[in-house]
Amino acid sequence: MRAVKLAPSLLSADFAAIADAIAACERGGADELHLDSMDGRFVPNFTWGMKIVRDLRRLTRLPFDCHLMIVEPERYVDAFRDAGANRITFHYEATPHQHRLLRHLRKSGVGAGIAINPGTPASMLVDLAEELDRVLVMSVNPGFGGQSFIARALVKVREVRALLEARNPACEIEVDGGIDGENIERAIEAGADVLVAGNSVFASDDPAENIRALRRRIDARHASRA
Ligand code: DX5
Ligand code: ZN
Repeated sequence: MRAVKLAPSLLSADFAAIADAIAACERGGADELHLDSMDGRFVPNFTWGMKIVRDLRRLTRLPFDCHLMIVEPERYVDAFRDAGANRITFHYEATPHQHRLLRHLRKSGVGAGIAINPGTPASMLVDLAEELDRVLVMSVNPGFGGQSFIARALVKVREVRALLEARNPACEIEVDGGIDGENIERAIEAGADVLVAGNSVFASDDPAENIRALRRRIDARHASRA
């Protein structure tokens, strides 16, 4: 049975105290850090680019999963890799050349992930399945932290799991958006391997303890999935 990972999203952290936020993720036992890059075009919000990723790289050895919510991701993936990304997850909807870009990512030595918006069906991944290390199922519309979980995403996780079962069983499924102590177990039950959590980690006082609390939920559900 695969380990289920917890990936705090720094989007909801205080950007003026980002080193403290990362230290709390380490103390809490995060498996990786989820870094959301937004370009104000693919989504109606801005966050950080390669310079910040490079600077953050000096603060931690936790793997960086760079979730690119940007148009034409092919123009920037090498720069994100050079800045220290361990995995790059771009959006299916952001480029017509998903297959080429997935192959390029693997060839360049970073994990290859693709994200699908709530309005994009799992079936769009049929011809990409073999090229993938990770599928990110969005459980909110991308662009902002703190939105409510879209329950339909659980159906999609099951559909993606079924599709991968035959073609690429090693591929991980990540769920991103609105994950909290209430729905995290349902996401795992549906087949999620990686849970992103922004608001539920950073919106209240003790992020390290919030991570531990989510971890306990994961471990409880994971034991019963065995
Ligand atoms: C939304 C981002 C998410 C976000 C999740 O566009 O992709 O990673 O930070 O935050 P919560 O957990 O607050 O929904
Ligand atoms: Zn994200």
